[in-house]
Amino acid sequence: MIRLKSWTAGFSFITSLTALLMAVSSSAYTTSSAPLNYRNDTQMNEFIDDLMSRMTLEEKCGQLTMSAGHWNNTGPVVKQGGLDDIKEGRIGSFLSVYGADMTYQLQQVAVENSRLHIPLLFSHDVIHGFRTIFPVPIGQASSWDPDAVEEAAHIAAVEATASGVHWTYAPMVDIARDPRWGRIVEGWGEDPLLCSAMTVASVHGYQGNDLSRSDTLLACAKHFVAYGTIEGGRDYNSGEVTERTLREVYLPSFHAAVDAGVETFMSAFNDIGGVPCHANPYLTRGILRDEWAFPGLVVSDYTGIKELLNHGVADTREKAGIRALKAGVDIDMLSDIYNELPAAVKAGDLDISYIDEAVRRVLVAKYKLGLFEDPYRYCSGKKEAQQSLTHEHRAAARELAEKSIVLLKNNNALLPLSKNMDSVAVIGPLADEPHSCLGSWAAAGKAEDAVTILTGLKSHLPDTQITYVQGCSIDDDDTSGFAEATNAANQADAVILVLGEHRDMSAEAKCRTSIDLPGVQNDLAKAIIATEKPVVVVLMNGRPLSISWLEENAPAIVEAWYPGVEAGNAVARILLGDVNPSGKLPVTFPRSVGQIPIYYNHRNTGRPFDAADTYTTRYLDSPITPLYPFGYGLSYTSFAYDALSLSEAEINEGDSVEVTVNVTNDGEREGSEVVQLYIRDLVGDTARPVRELRGFKRVFLLPGEARTVHFTLTEDDFSCYDAAMTWRVEPGRFQIFVGGNSVDTLSKELLIKGK
Ligand code: GLC
Repeated sequence: MIRLKSWTAGFSFITSLTALLMAVSSSAYTTSSAPLNYRNDTQMNEFIDDLMSRMTLEEKCGQLTMSAGHWNNTGPVVKQGGLDDIKEGRIGSFLSVYGADMTYQLQQVAVENSRLHIPLLFSHDVIHGFRTIFPVPIGQASSWDPDAVEEAAHIAAVEATASGVHWTYAPMVDIARDPRWGRIVEGWGEDPLLCSAMTVASVHGYQGNDLSRSDTLLACAKHFVAYGTIEGGRDYNSGEVTERTLREVYLPSFHAAVDAGVETFMSAFNDIGGVPCHANPYLTRGILRDEWAFPGLVVSDYTGIKELLNHGVADTREKAGIRALKAGVDIDMLSDIYNELPAAVKAGDLDISYIDEAVRRVLVAKYKLGLFEDPYRYCSGKKEAQQSLTHEHRAAARELAEKSIVLLKNNNALLPLSKNMDSVAVIGPLADEPHSCLGSWAAAGKAEDAVTILTGLKSHLPDTQITYVQGCSIDDDDTSGFAEATNAANQADAVILVLGEHRDMSAEAKCRTSIDLPGVQNDLAKAIIATEKPVVVVLMNGRPLSISWLEENAPAIVEAWYPGVEAGNAVARILLGDVNPSGKLPVTFPRSVGQIPIYYNHRNTGRPFDAADTYTTRYLDSPITPLYPFGYGLSYTSFAYDALSLSEAEINEGDSVEVTVNVTNDGEREGSEVVQLYIRDLVGDTARPVRELRGFKRVFLLPGEARTVHFTLTEDDFSCYDAAMTWRVEPGRFQIFVGGNSVDTLSKELLIKGK
């Protein structure tokens, strides 16, 4: 491993790198006489045509090759020989390389040392913040606030680009219906519309409207596609999905990303019905490029091309590379197979046109970023120091965290807690756990930056005696701490019990066969709640958890997910009433893992549950309803819905209809409500879901204030794929639902008459 700019071991390398740079011709970087005009495709194409005409086949394959940098305890490293690879044009981009210094040094080797001076792309997983870490995506989705999500992505872009990052592998737009799957934490939940809204916001936040600005970067819609269908909720497993479900559930958010102008896509690890997504021309050429006219580039997932050998769809590396490139995967992340393709071209096994089209997409991305104009524009050490973790960025992170927190239960209005309490016991293994505050995929986030829940409570309750007892570990069977915890609870006016999962129990390759609270946390909860003190349970977790016992016995429950760097301040402000919780669940909470998959937009079946009829869909040992439904979340106030009305009771096929509803804050505190609009196509060519989200609006209401909320349902909102897979409106009866979640709604019927 070679270390860059490390002042300890590896010093000898610095000498050689410096010597290497000194040897470089002192001529400034030159590409063309005239300044490049980013907005003129003709000039861009002329520039790229000229450059490609001078590239060797090997240099072209080098542009399609992504290597990885790594960070160890002394700083950034690149693999042995990495600098020679850059110099020889065998690498076009890097994964996990960031930092103004490191990116500057590597860029200098490429730009001043390689034959054609083509700048490198530097990429990283900036998933929910770079140094200022925002709530994990499933938490952000709980805000149902696309504007706030866009701001979070923009701030992440500002910080990441100041550290030399040109490209993030976000947003993850996979629909997730299986909480056993650890990656449910990385996405926006189970609904196509909510996921699409968050995707569009995120893409706009990362890319802005001018990629040549030095505070915008390439976004990446991943993982294409239907990764969430993996069987058993087990990461990397096989997926199965029908064409209709693929197009109505799993594709819409990716299509929304294309419509939002996303510049890149990433292929998914899974196969669909035996066809790996990394070798699936129907997906990456047929749908993505032919149907959607996506012009951007597709990157493989980490060694995804090499894994075609494991899938058993190629028996040599070269054949795997040929299949992937022909399927439309432009960049080879970490398999280092595309550098072997010149032999296939020379042997007549691969037409160079496949390589040329991929190279062009890579060069277009570099051109749009302005890297040919100024390859060092993103390597500003000064900006890196100025832009990271600013007060404003922290404030934005706290506000989004507050909006992402979901109030699940609040018996007898236990919450908000009084600020005049004499004593509070803060108990639980996640009460003072900074890494989990940040969550997984925390980029350049640092645990020491995080405000834990304990710290947040202390700062917001300066006059209250706060006793902290961990009580138990997150995931072992040691109950020896229960006595101390129970004693602390008995001594306090109230208890805040922070339970959940460690951040490393979700995200990639972190799947569970159980979605119960890990370890002995449920037993700790039983011991604490048995004290009959006022107990507030705060959950920090990366997936829906089956917390039926808590639901039945805890006086109050708050879902905080992993709230980010401002976790403690956000949670404290919610618990103490400075902020009224407004979050709504973007995923269904099962009662038990045995119910999975369970999601709100399911079909009715031929035998919908009927308590009076044994022979209807049911379990012997559980209700079929979820613990908490999609869209659910409480408030410290209450909202009344009435006067749901449609502009017409009957419309013609192709017409729109206006939907209005009155929402009143009939409680005593101001608060925000997410008003949700669903439809149901009662009779179709195929069986249609019992609910489909078709709109949502956050409204802020003062106590007593009423608001008429308006929605418009268009022809597209009523359309679906018929039995022949034709996208159309099927005339007939529809139900329109409006409410504060997917179950408790007002409804009206609408008739759509055929032409
Ligand atoms: C990982 C993930 C993907 C990530 C990539 C680069 O395996 O699947 O989401 O962007 O590799 O780190």
